[in-house]
Amino acid sequence: MITIDNVNAARQCLSRAQRVAVLTGAGVSAESGIPTFRDALTGLWARFDPMKLASEDGFRADPPLVWRWYAWRRELVAKALPNAAHYALASAQLRFAAFDVITQNVDGLHALAGSASIELHGSIVRTTCLARCGFVENDPQLLPPGEPPRCPQCGDWLRPGVVWFGEMLEVAMLQHAERIASECDVMLVVGTSGLVYPAAALPALAMRHGAKVVVVNPSESELDQSATVIVRGTAAMEVPRLFE
Ligand code: OAD
Repeated sequence: MITIDNVNAARQCLSRAQRVAVLTGAGVSAESGIPTFRDALTGLWARFDPMKLASEDGFRADPPLVWRWYAWRRELVAKALPNAAHYALASAQLRFAAFDVITQNVDGLHALAGSASIELHGSIVRTTCLARCGFVENDPQLLPPGEPPRCPQCGDWLRPGVVWFGEMLEVAMLQHAERIASECDVMLVVGTSGLVYPAAALPALAMRHGAKVVVVNPSESELDQSATVIVRGTAAMEVPRLFE
């Protein structure tokens, strides 16, 4: 049965759980000042074409444009701080036998709040080589000059260390996330539209293995259909209440 607006029902699920998995999306960082992707008015994709900016073809078509877009987002992320939801998740991890945060976000805010999260879509501060020669730089300040810079190892373009449309997730990381989803008692899904796979398949996987699924989102999402309990509210308001 689906319960809407029911913080108490969500708390009850969590209080009986030993193993909790958390899946987060852009909505968990919205109250940190980082725009989501698909909000009709303020979302990042409202102003930009994702295929132009977040795919290898888009990058190859106009490397400086894509590089500048990610540099702009990196600056946005550098100024952002974790919000109450990130902190509540970080402190909740001590209370359960297992508590794993799986995120689609590339902003690093879970880590900054103290959660060792699985970053399914990579990290915006990481830079890798388009030719996959193995070059990785985790400090944007140390990048060679240029828009985009050239790889110091092989001379190809450097690119943001995120997963673009059409690219595979790291296999071992995805398998790890799937194992966590299939072994948890509760999956808490916060701030994701549930439109991007394979991340969007994790709640249904958890449910098939007997887990309860709690969704926190101020709006309807594709994942409502996999929910045991839906809490209609924002991450920073509702997530701390779930663990009070
Ligand atoms: P979306 O922008 O698709 O969805 C954001 C979700 O957050 C929506 O369901 C909103 O209703 C919800 N939301 C907005 N404000 C919120 C708040 N304050 N608290 C809680 N929820 C809120 O973002 P994602 O689902 O993360 O991938 O998108 C998934 C992937 O699509 C991203 O990781 C990105 C994008 O393409 C890559 O870049 C590879």
